[in-house]
Amino acid sequence: MRNRVALVTGGMGTIGTAIIEALHAGGCKAIATFKFPGDATAETWTRSMSDKGIEVTVVECDVADFAATKAAIAEVEAQCGPVDILVNGAGITRDNTLRKMTPDQWQQVIEVNLDSVFNCTQPLIEGMTERAWGRVINISSINGQKGQFGQANYSAAKAGMHGFTKAVAQEVARKGVTVNTVSPGYIDSPMINAVPEEIREGIRLAIPVQRFGKPSEIARAVAFLADDEAGFVTGADLSVNGGQYM
Ligand code: CAA
Repeated sequence: MRNRVALVTGGMGTIGTAIIEALHAGGCKAIATFKFPGDATAETWTRSMSDKGIEVTVVECDVADFAATKAAIAEVEAQCGPVDILVNGAGITRDNTLRKMTPDQWQQVIEVNLDSVFNCTQPLIEGMTERAWGRVINISSINGQKGQFGQANYSAAKAGMHGFTKAVAQEVARKGVTVNTVSPGYIDSPMINAVPEEIREGIRLAIPVQRFGKPSEIARAVAFLADDEAGFVTGADLSVNGGQYM
């Protein structure tokens, strides 16, 4: 991935930050991420990355909106050059059992977690195939593989990513572009910490390694797939879940 340009959506999140650090360590020459319109934390985050010696280009964008995303991608490419590596990491939860789930909770999760994958990948895929090199890495979830109580919306979106990955992987395989999915299990992050303590502890005990994952453990899998040496891995789903789902 040396001298490649990477775009990581959800880059300011816990896992996204670790992914950016890993891509930087791997030698990416430029890295960009998106800032949700109105997000006041972006400046502090950018400064903390800069303190670590990592300069990240931050462009305002709502990934749930196709037109806005297309425009933001054009801005990233104008600033950084053509994007070689796309990590679709933006994601939210709106947990609720189906009987109580509102259309809004369903819609928001599908738009941010699944529509965004189309919105970001579609404008970039042609450039990657024309340049005969590209990496698309979709951050799915163990809950897209096994389903999860209270996550009909999230499980559906994350499962949808697998179908997208395998379809597009076939379309671009001959052009030097790989498309893969990483499926994190429960990672030590604010998303997990939002789950009520009692449920969270039950989940931890169900993980064979008996602990939550570290963001860097997901980043390591992403860096592997982003590497030049990973060109024979495509349409794959890499589980990083402490053995919770095999
Ligand atoms: N399996 C079976 N039954 C369960 C259950 C489970 N996992 N969890 C709760 N129940 C039962 C309760 O015991 C209760 O039973 P009774 O009615 O008999 O008392 C009933 O279901 C509660 O049903 P409600 O519809 O009233 O649920 P609630 O409103 O109390 O809570 C919830 C629903 C908010 C979704 C809560 O269950 C929850 O937070 N679950 C965890 C969801 C989760 O794992 N989210 C993952 C977030 S992290 C992430 O998503 C990242 C990633 O990729 C891994």
